[in-house]
Amino acid sequence: MNSELLMCDATHFRVDYVINPYMDTGVQPDQLAALAEHEAIEKAHAAAGRIVSRMESARECPDMVYTANGAFVSSRRAVLGAPPAARRPEIPHFRAWLKGRGFDVLDAPYDFSGQGDALPCGGLLFAGYGQRTDRRMHGVLADVLGYEVVPLRTTGEQWYDLDLALAVIDARTVAYCPQALDAPSGQRLRALGLDLIEVDVEEASTFALNLISDGSTVTMTTGAPRLRDTLRERGLDVVELDTTELRKGGGGVRCTALTLDNQLPPRAR
Ligand code: ARG
Repeated sequence: MNSELLMCDATHFRVDYVINPYMDTGVQPDQLAALAEHEAIEKAHAAAGRIVSRMESARECPDMVYTANGAFVSSRRAVLGAPPAARRPEIPHFRAWLKGRGFDVLDAPYDFSGQGDALPCGGLLFAGYGQRTDRRMHGVLADVLGYEVVPLRTTGEQWYDLDLALAVIDARTVAYCPQALDAPSGQRLRALGLDLIEVDVEEASTFALNLISDGSTVTMTTGAPRLRDTLRERGLDVVELDTTELRKGGGGVRCTALTLDNQLPPRAR
């Protein structure tokens, strides 16, 4: 899992508008620091043996560095994101890139935050709703991609995408922040019989859960030593990276990479 990723460059990364509580147009990313931070993330993926494809960012798309929201991809099929108006100009670029690589590309009929609200775990798909994703997208994702959807609603704008509140570590291990999910969603998650790692609000607020795991190496932000140590105790290699600049747009490690190699396990097909 997560062995093929799509990243953009950070050349045009800016805060031009405010669509999440972390953004402030008065606090702009330092361009050189942002480029270095982004490059360090890409290098960490390569060092972990992940294949990174690159897509060129567009000047008029200051959030395009967060490729996770461009689509959700599984088994060579892509369902494009349908983001807030300010980010809609990104979508034709994703459509063109994915079509050009032979993916079967579909438009989302309702609001959809792409992979930001769609995190696969074996044959399950943890699917956020209530913030950037319309719940009706869950039926579309189940029909088109074949996953068993687990609807999870986050408790507020602070968790505007599910990938800030929950992280899939491997096909049976999930880390999450209990306070970030509403009560029925928490119950739904706990009823699945998975191995759950609880992350406190303090660490989750640093975007600790916005991580990428391939089941052996976890690439995550600095600033969450408790989660880091828990993952290490479980035998995972943990690589911590600075995400100071990316945080100014309200994102972290997970947001900057769209996974291209999700697959339903054979028995779930
Ligand atoms: N500024 C971007 C937005 O609000 C950040 C997106 C981060 N992506 C994510 N998957 N959480 O859309």
